[in-house]
Amino acid sequence: MSSGRTLLITGVSRRIGAHLAAHYLARGDRVIGTYRQETAELANLREQGLHAIRIDLTDTAALPGLIDDIAAYTDRLDAIVHNASIWPSDNDCASQPELITQLYQLHVTTPVQLTLALQHRLPAPSLDGRATRTVVFLTDTKVSAGSDGHLHYLSSKAAADSAMRSLAISLAPHTRVNAIAPGLILFHEQDSTEKRANRLAKNLLPFEPGAEVIAESMDYLLDCSAVTGITLPVDCGLNLLNPSARD
Ligand SMILES: NC(=O)c1ccc[n+]([C@@H]2O[C@H](COP(=O)([O-])OP(=O)(O)OC[C@H]3O[C@@H](n4cnc5c(N)ncnc54)[C@H](OP(=O)(O)O)[C@@H]3O)[C@@H](O)[C@H]2O)c1
Repeated sequence: MSSGRTLLITGVSRRIGAHLAAHYLARGDRVIGTYRQETAELANLREQGLHAIRIDLTDTAALPGLIDDIAAYTDRLDAIVHNASIWPSDNDCASQPELITQLYQLHVTTPVQLTLALQHRLPAPSLDGRATRTVVFLTDTKVSAGSDGHLHYLSSKAAADSAMRSLAISLAPHTRVNAIAPGLILFHEQDSTEKRANRLAKNLLPFEPGAEVIAESMDYLLDCSAVTGITLPVDCGLNLLNPSARD
């Protein structure tokens, strides 16, 4: 995919979403990014040209406004990246059952609705058999192995992975749809030294990769015109060690 594109990335206020937005802005692409919280990263991205839209993506009533805003900003959309996510534990979900609904809304229902609605408002032309738009879901490498602490989170990511394949079928040939399934990419600030060491020991490649590996994977999925309907594990080999590799 050539530069000078327009991308929509959800959840750009921090970490991987912020890194992806900065990566494509630095290349001269136009980036529309959704956020909930104002952050220092978001302020930097605005200075680099980000078109930022504040929205809670679990608020279904707000989605038509988001679609209108995007269509007013651009008549061309080359890529949609469904990055926004929450990661509640099963204990969190037991004490706040509304989180279960939010997981499916954020990881599955909203991305599918948004993808289809934007297809209607900003249709991707099909010229010569090659797709002109790419959609990428961020899922999780543990989807196939399961987890003893994040059943609801992983189930919702599994549903997103399945939705990705159905969309790849229904939106061909003008749109390619794929997923990146990360393993550990970035630790959280509060993770202890012991937790970090234990977690890294489960990888075949025991290092913290950082968000740049997601940008590299995204570049591949945006650029490789013959790839659709795949899930690309980016997990330092963790999937080979499943199902014993648990959090
Ligand atoms: N980091 C990893 O090691 C790792 C591992 C496996 C999978 N992944 C996947 O990779 C993606 C990025 O990971 P990450 O670690 O960067 O995630 P993160 O730090 O949890 O950030 C998630 C983003 O989603 C946004 N978000 C959350 N709830 C939202 C809502 N209701 N409406 C709109 N936006 C919402 C957040 O916005 P606000 O902060 O503004 O609320 C934030 O920008 C996610 O899909 C994640 O599941 C990451």
